[in-house]
Amino acid sequence: MKILLTGAEGQFGRCFQDRCTDHSLVALNRSELDITDLDAVQRACKTHLPDVVVNGAAYTAVDRAEQEVDLAVAVNSAGPQNLAVACAERDIPLIHISTDYVFDGTATSPYLPDSPVSPLGVYGQSKWQGEEAVRRTLNQHLIIRTAWVFSEYGNNFVKTMLRLGAEREELSVVADQVGCPTYAGHIADAIVALLPLLKQPGFDGWGTLHFGGDRAVSWHQFAQAIFAEAVDQGCLPQAPRVLPITTEQYPTPARRPGYSVLDSGSLAELLGLRFCNDWLQGLRFTLERLAQP
Ligand SMILES: NC(=O)c1ccc[n+]([C@@H]2O[C@H](COP(=O)([O-])OP(=O)(O)OC[C@H]3O[C@@H](n4cnc5c(N)ncnc54)[C@H](OP(=O)(O)O)[C@@H]3O)[C@@H](O)[C@H]2O)c1
Repeated sequence: MKILLTGAEGQFGRCFQDRCTDHSLVALNRSELDITDLDAVQRACKTHLPDVVVNGAAYTAVDRAEQEVDLAVAVNSAGPQNLAVACAERDIPLIHISTDYVFDGTATSPYLPDSPVSPLGVYGQSKWQGEEAVRRTLNQHLIIRTAWVFSEYGNNFVKTMLRLGAEREELSVVADQVGCPTYAGHIADAIVALLPLLKQPGFDGWGTLHFGGDRAVSWHQFAQAIFAEAVDQGCLPQAPRVLPITTEQYPTPARRPGYSVLDSGSLAELLGLRFCNDWLQGLRFTLERLAQP
């Protein structure tokens, strides 16, 4: 199969490139394909004639989005719409990634793909608009919502904690926001595994799915796990003290959901096979990769 990947240099994009080795992959970064440019997106589909488009491009700066509203909306809403338009013109399926931040976090049990959404900030709102644009424009789509993404690539919470842990003896981390840390390589593995299904005659699994890490934790618990593993692997001489604080004690420009746990059963059902979403395993792998010269 021929796959066209956008946002190739993001966390997911890099992990997808590492894993999508059995297919012909055209991996385009932002300078090679800006998804806010409809002409460019149409040209890319015409030139490469992919069997499937995988969108790894997004504006992911949750707090900055509160100021850069136009940019966030252009990338997260108009961008997926452009991809869906170009895919619809050529009958190409689109796999698009979205976020747990479409939810407001007031639930008390894991969110299902059809749970009501109510984004709290510009980022979540722009991602929701992008989902809706894809749904309106293209039948052959999979929207995969994920959460709290980390990897050996790019910027993420794991890397921030490792940096702060090396600098400080004590730090405070929010303990009243709960979610599912997700290793970007596991998202990539799952998408690579489902690619062949999309071209099977009669495939009717189109729609919205959830794929998050296997265990819900608070950011505070996630930080503790990161430090425990980092000490175990010799990346840190000792773990700093991690003090639990409330969201109120750590105000940020964007409001975040208190509980954004995803029920990931829908993807398992679609694939009909086992896939790994063990974030502790993903964390260990990430630390090993970061320790490599
Ligand atoms: N990160 C998370 O915690 C998280 C949580 C839930 C869901 N998600 C979703 O998961 C997906 C992957 O996230 P990620 O963590 O891999 O994001 P990421 O590391 O921020 O990567 C996004 C990539 O998109 C590129 N990009 C930005 N604007 C673009 C444009 N106009 N055209 C083409 N490319 C553009 C960025 O390029 P530049 O670096 O040059 O800007 C970057 O390489 C996204 O859909 C995101 O919304 C992420």
